[in-house]
Amino acid sequence: MIRTKIAGIGKYLPEQVVTNQDLAQYMDTSDEWIQERTGIKERRYARKHHETTTTMGAAAAKEAIARAGITKEDIDFIVFATISSDYYFPGCGVLLQRELGITKGEIGALDIRNQCSGFVYGLEVVDQFIKAGKYKNILFVCSEMHSMGLDFRTEGRGVSVIFGDGAAALILQPTEDENCGILTTHLHSDGTYAEELSLLNPGSHGGYHVGTEQFGYPDTDKFGGVFVTQKMIDEYMFSPFMNGKLVFKHAVTKFPAVIKEALDSAGFSTSDIDMFIPHQANLRISQFVQKRLGLPDEKVFNNIQKYGNTTSASIPIAMCEAWEEGKIKDGDLVCVAAFGSGFTWGSGLLRW
Ligand code: UT7
Repeated sequence: MIRTKIAGIGKYLPEQVVTNQDLAQYMDTSDEWIQERTGIKERRYARKHHETTTTMGAAAAKEAIARAGITKEDIDFIVFATISSDYYFPGCGVLLQRELGITKGEIGALDIRNQCSGFVYGLEVVDQFIKAGKYKNILFVCSEMHSMGLDFRTEGRGVSVIFGDGAAALILQPTEDENCGILTTHLHSDGTYAEELSLLNPGSHGGYHVGTEQFGYPDTDKFGGVFVTQKMIDEYMFSPFMNGKLVFKHAVTKFPAVIKEALDSAGFSTSDIDMFIPHQANLRISQFVQKRLGLPDEKVFNNIQKYGNTTSASIPIAMCEAWEEGKIKDGDLVCVAAFGSGFTWGSGLLRW
């Protein structure tokens, strides 16, 4: 039986540290508020106009490639998960291929945009490709550069204090070793709440207004339209919107449920988990889930305190860091779970 194993993992965090106090210089917020509600102390911001989501992803990819003991020419497929892509289109997959100079074979590059669940969604996609025997070395990159698109006015503080920049990458390969690799993955979504955590503009809707549920513009001509309007620019409608309380409420029920689903399907119980790596959305959510699962502190890895919420990249950055610190060892049962915009959520179990 073929399984998918992680052959190499790497990460990249931009050098620039932005503390809660730094943010308080731009908006009405405080270190106390941010730490109390989210656990975040600081986050990293990329160097604007020097770094992009793709360049950060490429830095993480180089580390993962080296650690897997392969060369870039061995890679036969790219999967790139992000919601903060360099361009509206094309996606970051092809940009990464160019950035790394992967010319051999003109390999395929797939973009995944499942927000905070991007890692677990990508993991299932990669797992299926590998198990089907299609590819031997998939480069799976998760990278986010949020700092470029946040609203740093007080009006945007409910969202902007939470997010940070960062990237991680994995090389995934087939293995016949039954004692390692991805054991199971579980994906879900509920589009009822699509706009409750979203960045709507620009889009083919042409001027949707959060809250009013109306198209704010009259029918326009057959040609042209309102892809970008002055109103969008004036009213900061290119920044993310989040109904934080609603997201929190759903997250704390979906996390435990989807973790149980994974454990049940693979025949494990909570006590079998050696390391739980939750999506780093909010330390309070992670702590709530930890308590529900009854896991001791040493079996849960959080680093949101240092990096904030890096969306698709948060789980693989944490996974990489936990492994580098010796907190994940060969043979460990690792559980990952995420919840976010869409709503989308998912979980996975893997044997390290
Ligand atoms: O990864 C994607 C998934 N996202 C999540 O899982 C996020 C889930 N939600 C959350 O983490 C929390 O809802 C937040 C941390 C985002 C917000 O915490 P909250 O306890 O839900 O606060 P709130 O939005 O209800 O705001 C409470 C008060 C408001 O003031 P009033 O109306 O009570 O006067 C806000 O204006 O706190 C105010 N506020 C802030 N004050 C200082 C909101 N943001 C800030 C801020 N600094 N940064």
